[in-house]
Amino acid sequence: MCGIVGYIGEKSALGILLDGLTNLEYRGYDSAGIAVNVEGKVELYKAEGKLQNLKDLTNEKREHILKSTIGIGHIRWATHGSPTAVNAHPHSCNCGRVAIVHNGIIENYKELRAKLEKQGCTFRSQTDTETVAHLVASKYAQTNNLTEAVRLATKEIEGAYALAVIHQDVKNTIVATRRNAPLLVGIGEGEYYVASDVPAIIKYTKRAMYLDDNQIVTLTSNSMKLIDSDNNELVPKIETLPWEPVALSKMGYKHFMLKEIHEQPDVVRNVLSGKLRASNENIVLNEVKLDKEALKTLNRIQIVACGTSLHAAMVGKYIIEDLCGIPVDVEPSSEYIYRKTVGDKNTLVIGVSQSGETADTITAVRQAKSRGSHVLIVTNRPDSTMAREADSLVPVSAGIEVSVAATKSYMAQVISFYLLAIHIAEIKESASRSELEKIKRELILLPQKLEKTLSHKDEVKTCAKKFANSKDFIFIARGINFPTALEGALKLKEISYINATGYTAGELKHGPIAMLDESMPVLSILMKGKVYDKILSNSEEAKARNARMIALTDSDDTKLDELFECIIRIPEVDEMLSPALAIVSLQLLAYYIAEFLGKDVDQPRNLAKSVTVE
Ligand code: M6R
Repeated sequence: MCGIVGYIGEKSALGILLDGLTNLEYRGYDSAGIAVNVEGKVELYKAEGKLQNLKDLTNEKREHILKSTIGIGHIRWATHGSPTAVNAHPHSCNCGRVAIVHNGIIENYKELRAKLEKQGCTFRSQTDTETVAHLVASKYAQTNNLTEAVRLATKEIEGAYALAVIHQDVKNTIVATRRNAPLLVGIGEGEYYVASDVPAIIKYTKRAMYLDDNQIVTLTSNSMKLIDSDNNELVPKIETLPWEPVALSKMGYKHFMLKEIHEQPDVVRNVLSGKLRASNENIVLNEVKLDKEALKTLNRIQIVACGTSLHAAMVGKYIIEDLCGIPVDVEPSSEYIYRKTVGDKNTLVIGVSQSGETADTITAVRQAKSRGSHVLIVTNRPDSTMAREADSLVPVSAGIEVSVAATKSYMAQVISFYLLAIHIAEIKESASRSELEKIKRELILLPQKLEKTLSHKDEVKTCAKKFANSKDFIFIARGINFPTALEGALKLKEISYINATGYTAGELKHGPIAMLDESMPVLSILMKGKVYDKILSNSEEAKARNARMIALTDSDDTKLDELFECIIRIPEVDEMLSPALAIVSLQLLAYYIAEFLGKDVDQPRNLAKSVTVE
């Protein structure tokens, strides 16, 4: 949650900071601010609401602010204190000489605040972050050294943080540090950047250094010094970022979400590329470091994830249990971390995360690792904290996903589970070669079927228009598409704020059926296969209670026209692969409904893309 950015160099900082914040807006968007040093004086500019408000505010004093060649900026997703301008970052101390931006939560801020107030500090905001500004100022008063002040302050802070700090008396310097929150330094010619994430800086430089927990970096326009929390100097590990700036453009689409939905055929091609070469060849997953013996002796798999990634994990469970015969438990990371979980070295723990920075999932996989389990991460960010700490990796290569509502990363995660399950099955010989070859052939054909699905989007649009004013929505499915129902409902909730729930179709009659009447849409995910007839009869039951029926199906049975008011047809697909195809129409349905309702599709209220707080 929240994004931070910083710049020090020869150029004017303003544009770079605002640009960086624009590309970090997916991390939060309820207020924003910057701190600059204009002619020797630290100045703060903060605005409530969308980043545009800060842009308008700074525009009024543009010529003046442009003089600063140093600055830090912040985009907020409120945790402590409502989203007002006062609570927006940067925060400062009594004398206004320190400015600080923070991503994370200072857990002991109440104790720190009480102590600092006793020492005479006057607090202006309700945030946890302001304590750090006062703390750094007081340590600076004792040491006259900004790096040392930050280092001593972090010794007293409990919780998670990525921090960037400037001080009026130390003109050409930014000090930055992190613990359990992402932070990287971008390296230019005679300039440095600080950011929570790559998109903020990729336009300017591809050379970067990721900070590890408790490291502190001191930047001037022509130097970078890295130390640990005990003041030992460290050698920075500089790497080249594997990202292209073009990934951040909408490419003519109205929203990033729509663009990302349309990227899915290519995403599947990318994920398969080099890993699935031909249906008669074995899957190649070089970053999976479990050797054959370890894979053969695996007796259990636990998958932890949140939100959309959790739904991909649920699809993964079906595939792995089916092809590998290994029992799989799927659990939200936030539950897994607060109970005694059972597992050992024969338990594989898989963390699934688009960002690789979700706090709950990081904690869950760390817990599993300390228990002796092998940790494998399925992530879109091979540069993330989770990926860097993992034993094994399945990089999902969906490209940067900007829209807060995850679409193409879900697709990539689901495809990765097919690859992983086939890989394990090939080693364990737990499924026949002909069955595995059939799935591989279907995977190879999937991008074309996705393209065909996308080319029928007008059907989805028509259906969206019909149902856009519904207050509630029910999605039903069975078997491998139950997670599709959950994900379809989540997409709709996230971007249209319609109350939508996914149920296993068989459960409908055990309670939810009581809600059905002529105002309730029920969308049946009716894919050909083992449970087709069962879902059809569950749909009849719903229709008999006057529900408004919608079908998402790969069947061309014309009899469906009598039962369903609206039918979204997709190409015929093997049942095992159907979640990958079915979800696309549900993403489109959610998108068009949100569009008809005039919602802010890419930045839905109350959400942030990367939830880096517990
Ligand atoms: O980065 P992660 O995949 O770990 O994020 C998990 C969830 O926060 C994320 O999937 C969230 O549910 C999205 N808003 C889904 O659209």
